[in-house]
Amino acid sequence: MITSNTIQQITNRIDIIDVVGEFVKLKKRGTNFIGNCPFHNEKSPSFTVSPAKEIYKCFGCGKSGNTITFLMEHEKYSYVESLRWLAARYNIEIEETETSPAQKLAQQVADSLYAINNFAMDFFAKQYWETEAGESIAQSYMQHRGFLKPIVEKFKIGYNPSDKDSLAKALIQNQFNPELFAKTGLVVERNGEWQDNYRDRIIFPIHNTTGKIIGFGARQIAKNDKSPKYINSPENDIYVKSKILYGSYFARTSIDKLNECLLVEGYTDVVSLHQAGIENVVASGGTSLTIDQLRLIKKYTQNLTIIYDGDAAGVKAALRGLDMALEEGLNVQLVLIPDKEDPDSYVNKVGPDAFREFVQSAKKDFVLFQLEVQLKEVGGDLNKKNALVNQIAETLSKINKPEDFTKLQEYVRKCSSLLRIDETGLTQLVNKFKRDKIVKEEKKMSYDEAAILMPSFPQGQEQQQDTDLFTDKDLAHEKNLVKLIIEYGNELTKENKLVAQWIFDEIESFPLENEDMVYLIEAYKKWFYAGKLPNGKTLQYHEDEKVQKWVVSLFEPDHELSTRWNEKLGKPEREDVKDIINEIEIGLMYFKLRKVKKMISQNQMDLETAPEKEQIQLLQIHKHLKEVERELTQGIGTVIMK
Ligand code: CTP
Ligand code: MN
Repeated sequence: MITSNTIQQITNRIDIIDVVGEFVKLKKRGTNFIGNCPFHNEKSPSFTVSPAKEIYKCFGCGKSGNTITFLMEHEKYSYVESLRWLAARYNIEIEETETSPAQKLAQQVADSLYAINNFAMDFFAKQYWETEAGESIAQSYMQHRGFLKPIVEKFKIGYNPSDKDSLAKALIQNQFNPELFAKTGLVVERNGEWQDNYRDRIIFPIHNTTGKIIGFGARQIAKNDKSPKYINSPENDIYVKSKILYGSYFARTSIDKLNECLLVEGYTDVVSLHQAGIENVVASGGTSLTIDQLRLIKKYTQNLTIIYDGDAAGVKAALRGLDMALEEGLNVQLVLIPDKEDPDSYVNKVGPDAFREFVQSAKKDFVLFQLEVQLKEVGGDLNKKNALVNQIAETLSKINKPEDFTKLQEYVRKCSSLLRIDETGLTQLVNKFKRDKIVKEEKKMSYDEAAILMPSFPQGQEQQQDTDLFTDKDLAHEKNLVKLIIEYGNELTKENKLVAQWIFDEIESFPLENEDMVYLIEAYKKWFYAGKLPNGKTLQYHEDEKVQKWVVSLFEPDHELSTRWNEKLGKPEREDVKDIINEIEIGLMYFKLRKVKKMISQNQMDLETAPEKEQIQLLQIHKHLKEVERELTQGIGTVIMK
């Protein structure tokens, strides 16, 4: 792990204008800088970078964050990769904390596997380009299939000769550790000696998203029914099949730019489409998509277009990932290639332009496609139709993100029309599946989240009283308080108390409810009580990404709740500590008032159902709460008048 000392050094050196400026053309505008947003297409700039706050925000698409999240988002780096990138840029030496022996060993194994793979890749390329067998067998096979030199070079495609141990010998000669040979799958031990495993095969190196070689796919050249057409690397420390999409390294920029990811089945499909100038394409390797693969795609785009052979197996494989994709909020389209072709053979047959046009015109919405296919099977059978309606409702219930509600409504409309059933009926069924799911997950979930999920699409539950639930308003109040703590926690009150401590004492009997705010404040407290004097800037670079994310979102330019309060006071800017304390006092009172109102409402509900003998006590509580409410309201009045 990188030491916190190094992280500190890096974050001290960060210049957001310098880093973002590397990828976006920025112009100064007042105290901020603006440019065209790199995360969505726009003609007039709405991407704003604030050097003072060290954050960016796009007022067009809403993306925001700090220097590190920018690198994570734009370059798809992990947190640690971003730190390393910055360290390299600012010539900061990275100090790592002592790792456990097990961690060290794991790291060493991974590094050695990368090294062996790299060596093997170069070896295979050399065999392909520089040997006689390479030329007469491998090159001629690839040429025959229409793969030209530049594309073979780009994908580092190579050749493993037919001799029994040419790679094995080279590995041993170069003193790689034989204990790891078996893990790579490149060679196997037979009768006490190492032999090549991918003999007489074309080798497709598999890059991970950052370009490292994690494994290989090896295609036979001479048709031989006794051995499989492709052999792939076995799973090992660096090759985890469920997390890999072949081609992702070469596709990432194009997917980003076009905001669409094409998914095909095979190695040759990816390479052929690239050669045809279609670069936003990755391959699943013929198996159905895993959740990790879907998430990998989602890092780049929401729009997934699956291009598979039109045969039944291909379609089935494609359909299997559907529910998961919907749950992830992806828009999935399907294109079936006709006439027993696959994308590789089809693009070679019709050419790049016709291929593109075909994809555009043949795209079908995935959900509706599935429905059409199954409707044909149902025919006039009522039982089957019933089952299908249920199945579609369940599928649709997976569309669960608030921002996807319009999409869901649209689906309900189209599906009910295709099924010839009542739209409201389908809606109710979808809601039932949603509720069932919530009930199932309720134990795992906090009340807040359940409350937000429940009155969902499209006809809400009956209107709940505002104060019964934890609403957006409550959240806004909690956020504001947390923001005040982070912003002014290290100031001193008149009594020489740190502001954060003062607030903690004040809200002791009014705990925060929102899970994220509680999480953030706990992280704050850890640093605060360790004497670290946390603030908005340092917390932005907290190790914990969740903390980072929330700090950044609290300080987004459009989320200036605390200054909005000031506007109410008619004061343009706060001037000194006295104003700050004043602002916090008001903030605290609003916060408490809100909580008290909720308590009153809860108490009233209890009163309605309570047995007589408890009613007197509840009435007393009611009186007391009303008293507190009045005091707070008055208090707010007087503080505001001050
Ligand atoms: N596959 C595999 N093992 C096999 C067969 C296939 O891993 N024995 C995977 C490969 O990733 C392959 C994909 O499934 O690329 C699709 O298989 P297929 O359509 O048979 O091969 P193509 O990709 O079309 O390869 P080619 O064009 O070279 O025949
Ligand atoms: Mn093929």
